[in-house]
Amino acid sequence: MKFTTKMIAVSFLITGVTSLSTAAEKYDTGAFRTVTKLCYACHGTPFYQAKQIDDDDWEFYFNTPGKLEKLHKDKPEGLAAIHSPLFKKRKKRLLKFFIDNSKFSGAVNGCDANFCGTNH
Ligand code: HEC
Repeated sequence: MKFTTKMIAVSFLITGVTSLSTAAEKYDTGAFRTVTKLCYACHGTPFYQAKQIDDDDWEFYFNTPGKLEKLHKDKPEGLAAIHSPLFKKRKKRLLKFFIDNSKFSGAVNGCDANFCGTNH
């Protein structure tokens, strides 16, 4: 009996710690920095870029083979960004970031060390 109570207490503790850490991280800052590095020059801040299209569009552009390449065919720097090892490595994370912050997602991001305002 005593053992069970302890187990319950521990599981509550774990849940508490997990939800705390989720609350602290409102968005994927690693994805944010990657997008800033690769796409900012043409698309503006990552949140601004994310808001231009909805979740279905993000999925379509990212998951249709050759689509991103076609969109940037006249933009060598855009192509370079999409072909970069960094983009390939983080593609899934970036898609999730864009969807989480897309048009109609309702995501509103306050001022922090990475981002402050809607400048683009
Ligand atoms: C050199 C400039 C440049 C860079 C860098 C660039 N893009 Fe683009 N991108 C463009 C232009 C210009 C268009 C519009 C093409 C069109 O509408 O025909 C575009 C269009 C898009 C679109 C289609 C939807 C829309 O907003 O028009 C997506 C999605 C996109 N880019 C994603 C990205 C991502 C992700 C990155 C970074 C990994 C990136 N781009 C980097 C110039 C760039």
